[in-house]
Amino acid sequence: MVVPETPNKMYYPPSDLQRDAHVPNFHSYLEAYRKSTEDPEAFWRDVADDFFWKKPATGPMLQYNFDVTKGSIFVKCMEGAKSNVCYNVLDRHVKEKELGEKVAYYWEGNSPDQHTTITYSQLLIQVCRCANVLKQMGVKKGDRVSIYLPMIPELVYSMLACARIGAVHSVVFAGFSSESLCERVMDAQSVVLVTADAVYRGEKLINLKQIADEALEKCRGKTSSSVTKCLVVKHHARRTKGGAACSKLQTPWNMDRDVWWDEAIRGSPEDCEPEWMDAEDPLFILYTSGSTGKPKGVLHTGAGYLLYTSLTFKYVFDHRRDDVYWCTADIGWITGHSYITYGPLANGATSVLFEGIPVYPHVGRYWEIIEKYQVSKFYTAPTAIRLLMKFGREPLQKFDLSSLKIVGTVGEPINSEAWHWFHEEVGQGRCPVVDTFWQTETGGHVLTPLPAATPLKPGSATFPFFGVEPSILNEHGEELEGEAEGYLVFRRPWPGIMRTLYRNHERFENTYFKKFPGFYVTGDGCRRDKDGYYWITGRIDDMMNVSGHLMSSAEVEAALTEHSAVAEAAVVSRPHAVKGECLYCFVTLKDGGEFNPSLVAALKTAVRDKIGPIATPDFIQNAPALPKTRSGKIMRRILRQVARNDKDLGDLSTLADPQVVEILFSQRCETTA
Ligand code: PRX
Repeated sequence: MVVPETPNKMYYPPSDLQRDAHVPNFHSYLEAYRKSTEDPEAFWRDVADDFFWKKPATGPMLQYNFDVTKGSIFVKCMEGAKSNVCYNVLDRHVKEKELGEKVAYYWEGNSPDQHTTITYSQLLIQVCRCANVLKQMGVKKGDRVSIYLPMIPELVYSMLACARIGAVHSVVFAGFSSESLCERVMDAQSVVLVTADAVYRGEKLINLKQIADEALEKCRGKTSSSVTKCLVVKHHARRTKGGAACSKLQTPWNMDRDVWWDEAIRGSPEDCEPEWMDAEDPLFILYTSGSTGKPKGVLHTGAGYLLYTSLTFKYVFDHRRDDVYWCTADIGWITGHSYITYGPLANGATSVLFEGIPVYPHVGRYWEIIEKYQVSKFYTAPTAIRLLMKFGREPLQKFDLSSLKIVGTVGEPINSEAWHWFHEEVGQGRCPVVDTFWQTETGGHVLTPLPAATPLKPGSATFPFFGVEPSILNEHGEELEGEAEGYLVFRRPWPGIMRTLYRNHERFENTYFKKFPGFYVTGDGCRRDKDGYYWITGRIDDMMNVSGHLMSSAEVEAALTEHSAVAEAAVVSRPHAVKGECLYCFVTLKDGGEFNPSLVAALKTAVRDKIGPIATPDFIQNAPALPKTRSGKIMRRILRQVARNDKDLGDLSTLADPQVVEILFSQRCETTA
């Protein structure tokens, strides 16, 4: 790595930020990076020293095998150590660091009149009460608890309560459908489901409990449901109390299974002895889309995940004691797990926890919140930036954003226009933009700038974080040096990398380690420029990234082919001005089927109902036939080109029937139906 020589394209860290930063310049980054890769043992042991260990490690900081040809893949961190993640992110601050009175979260509801403040002491009490309730429900160490909640404090309470008693949480994004929830509850074999009566999305009131009940009903239909208790937060009442909205919400109720959160918590003791866990005991499962269509239960374990999310948070946001940090992600995704719950709390940080959406009740909502809480570090997604850019400067100018020091993005490549708008309009030209590349599987940032150290190139996630060794491989698995483009892989683990796919170690090995033995394969394409900067070029598998959410072609296709009129379906992505990518679907109808607007509407609904609103297709095209190779494989490359109206088709020699392509181009959808 060298400091680039092209100053006109570079954005250098502001000197006031450098003055007392954790990593104050590029030289210190290089030095610490060198230490972290040359002597990872010493590097991670230093990091571990900041935490509480009931029993110290007996094994090395990291042990691993990344080579399938040499045996089973494994990663272990701090073998022999015993600790508790919840203790480290809460009790340690309250008991050892006297941070009890410090604000852990400013909770801001969907509407601006709903807000509350939670200190570290209060958080600890709520977590202990919830932990005792779970124990009373029969939850034991190692049991799984599914959590299907909106962005309310109870979401954090229940995650940490699980961590405290050694239960494994599986948070399911509250925008997922009953079918998606059922699939995840069944795979995890959860014994308890935590949910709420309702969730607000702007003006819209969604009966979450009804969806949860449908999911549990579906689980029962498929096997005997593992869920014995359902803990329900009465969220709707908070809104109706103030008289703001008075809808006739009917909460379906099962007397044998359902328990109101408030009633259960009321008499629950405020103390709960943490369960002292082995370093490699599971902390949580989080499902992410897989290319076969069946979601993958990514499993993270306690000690390594704690060290890694804590350290990345500290350095990537250059955390200071008096910061107010805000990550706009939903905790239903990994960004929220690592950088709303665990990373910030491990650092004793003060965060904003926001339930709402960026455009309700007005398009300046984000900027209003930044002013209200004097947010200094702001972390969001390119899709949100592109959405807000459309409203221009005016909504920004109504609010004072001078508290901001660092802004960050995650989830997808950021286009140059969005980067510049974020940097110049939101960050007012003085805040570095940390473009963080990582995955559910990586647990935390793996390629990222450090705000006071790394000269930025808009659109590049720049350099590896400490302890991370990226490499770029060609199709033959050869490592490429210098300027290169190919498969992004990692040569060795860092403490926060996933350990397995829940109950499917074989799929774990096949998905991430089989293609190139000796490397973790990310599934992303990547370019390294002459200055050593890494540029993510997008997915190289059948995964699509819509508004920063990964989804597989297979899962959307399965939803479409379930419709009685559809014989076959193929789904690809196409660029979208706000979402980054959107879904473009090709459907071949069964004989006698008629392709018309009502069928298109029905198919969109089918996908929404099966997966959730985030997967709603933008385009559905009639495809009398799909382009296939002679061996019958769908040529998605061609479909992508039809979707984009790109007629530069290249080599079509493997195509069975070239006429199909012409027909597809002639029937393209130009506008969303
Ligand atoms: O394709 C990459 C893209 O998002 C994928 C990971 O998605 P997920 O597991 O849902 O986690 C998202 C939040 C960490 C990656 O394989 N991606 C994520 N961050 C970036 C990105 N692509 C480009 N630049 C990024 N900063």
